[in-house]
Amino acid sequence: MAQNPKPRAEVDYAAKLKEAQATPKALEDAMKVGRRVAGFCANCHGEGGNSTNPDIPNLAGQNPGYLLDQVRQFAEGRRKNEFMEGMIRALNPEETIGMVVYFGAQTVLPHRAGTNPAQVAKGRDLFSKNCFRCHGENGRGNEKFARIAGQQAGYLTKTIKRYRAGSVQRSDPLMAAATSLLSDADVDALAAYISGME
Ligand code: HEC
Ligand code: HEC
Repeated sequence: MAQNPKPRAEVDYAAKLKEAQATPKALEDAMKVGRRVAGFCANCHGEGGNSTNPDIPNLAGQNPGYLLDQVRQFAEGRRKNEFMEGMIRALNPEETIGMVVYFGAQTVLPHRAGTNPAQVAKGRDLFSKNCFRCHGENGRGNEKFARIAGQQAGYLTKTIKRYRAGSVQRSDPLMAAATSLLSDADVDALAAYISGME
């Protein structure tokens, strides 16, 4: 890991991501760096970004554009998690780009949905009314929106409640609007359904 990373404002990450995706050779090089970085992350985020801890998010299959945006938010202190803020500052630009293309290319392992069928059905209903517009019918998002399909249930519950409350750890105007009318039972149902989406 780099000891003296440059201030992030000087680096155009979007342009660097495009460069890394421009040729098969550039992509292969970036993936190599990313695989090495991912070794540091596996303790918490799991092998290949498939977390086994319900409270820690998968990074596998996550959209590179979304990951870069979260890196920026941690670095600027707009998204708060003491450990992740430090971890992100320790990555140099090549490691950051490598990490996002590597995790983006990993397959999300299938999860079981919640075990209560009525709750899962309620979650499906809420998802198809409120969430698909941005996260897609299949929950896989796109360059702009996060993949949520197959995400860890505990992390989903915690995160959705933070958006709903406009918390200091994490807030977003679109997600505040999308969650403002959800009850705690609705949030649990959504997490039960979404965590089982492939
Ligand atoms: C000590 C455990 C730990 C390690 C090691 C760790 N993370 Fe995390 N990471 C977390 C936790 C916990 C969160 C969720 C923070 C929150 O929102 O509350 C997180 C969140 C993230 C997110 C946001 C994911 C999302 O879906 O929004 C990214 C990106 C991330 N970590 C990248 C990394 C990278 C890259 C590494 C390795 C260089 C790494 N993490 C190492 C614990 C860890
Ligand atoms: C109008 C668009 C929009 C709608 C509708 C929407 N979202 Fe989101 N969602 C976003 C955006 C933008 C983000 C990223 C916000 C950020 O940077 O923290 C996000 C992030 C999330 C995350 C965090 C992902 C992660 O890996 O940390 C979860 C979970 C989520 N949304 C769940 C939902 C659920 C559940 C619904 C339906 C109740 C929903 N969203 C509806 C736009 C939307």
